[in-house]
Amino acid sequence: MKTRLKIFLAAILFIAISCSKEKPIDKIIDESLSFAVKQYSLMTDTMKNKPDQLPRTITAEGRLKTENSHWWTSGFYPGSLWYLYEYSNNPEFKADATGITARVEQEKYTTNSHDVGFILNCSFGNGLRLTGEEAYNEVLLTGAKSLSTRFRPNIGCIQSWGSSKKWQCPVIIDNMMNLELLMWAFKKSGDSSFYKIALSHADTTIKYHFRSDFSTYHVVSYDTVTGKVEARQTAQGFSDSSAWSRGQSWGLYGYTMMYRETGLDRYLQQARHIAGFLTSNPNLPEDKIPYWDFNAPGIPNATRDASAGAIMASALIELSSFVGKEEGERYLKVAETQIRTLASPMYMAKLGENGDFLLMHSVGSIPANSEVDVPLTYADYYFIEACMRYRKILNAESK
Ligand code: GLY
Repeated sequence: MKTRLKIFLAAILFIAISCSKEKPIDKIIDESLSFAVKQYSLMTDTMKNKPDQLPRTITAEGRLKTENSHWWTSGFYPGSLWYLYEYSNNPEFKADATGITARVEQEKYTTNSHDVGFILNCSFGNGLRLTGEEAYNEVLLTGAKSLSTRFRPNIGCIQSWGSSKKWQCPVIIDNMMNLELLMWAFKKSGDSSFYKIALSHADTTIKYHFRSDFSTYHVVSYDTVTGKVEARQTAQGFSDSSAWSRGQSWGLYGYTMMYRETGLDRYLQQARHIAGFLTSNPNLPEDKIPYWDFNAPGIPNATRDASAGAIMASALIELSSFVGKEEGERYLKVAETQIRTLASPMYMAKLGENGDFLLMHSVGSIPANSEVDVPLTYADYYFIEACMRYRKILNAESK
């Protein structure tokens, strides 16, 4: 073969191999976060003209849909702005995060729902972490006291939703997420009642919420007089006995966080068991974004839930740092695939589209036919958090 032809063929081969190589994950993360800064700048332009409102999802016409601060998702947008400030160091993001965080302050008095933990921890919690703003301590402590009023001592849990004809004291697995606010309050104030409530809730939930395969029920309701379990059911999952995907992710994240906060081995073991159920589940697709329920009808054509994937990724990244090397690498590999999938055009919106949210294809509640295959503010929040967490690991490795 002539030399020139050989060189030409070698060049073609080199280009083909380079193109087929995966883009490095640090590049994907950097591009995703840079894009998030641009997309959220657009969202913030819109939100400046909507005082007292916070982004939730999109309308049927594809426009941004907002809610007031009492809706459970109100803390995620300010939380995302804090993370993007942390990433970009852009003072405009700090100013916007500060202004938007103030919109949820009144939720510190919320005693009629457990979501005060989600709302304040993501907004004021991140703000305090990044700025040390003294006034945020009072907001978080007042919120933790409000959340504590929902603790039912004879049950050992924080009540999630109000009592109804169906359920006397419903507790949902999501509620594990609210314990982070209580753990912060304990450390800040030294008041052990916050610690006792958080541990009691986490322990009671291990006892009654989980099945032998470490999947979790969505709702466990307790008898308010006897303190005993009266029902194990679902609200947002496919069936009472199914594994609703976001609920599994809340459980994984919740116990990983409780291990971080307490150092107690039982929470680490619980998180590892949940991770085992999820990561080796035959119904977890190759691209690692769960169907809306692990037992959804119609798999493999069932609707995916990007939010469940983003929460799981963030939790697995944290869990990877608490276990041995081999196990940690397994968790990181799943999380990396999840980030790659979510960052791909399959899930990541284009600039100025998708109501200025990042991710498409999440699910609020299929049984209620509400928010099906749409962007959701918390999918973005946990995706950004997952990217930030992974980035920290990569930065530490490169030092
Ligand atoms: N905490 C409500 C949900 O996950 O949909």
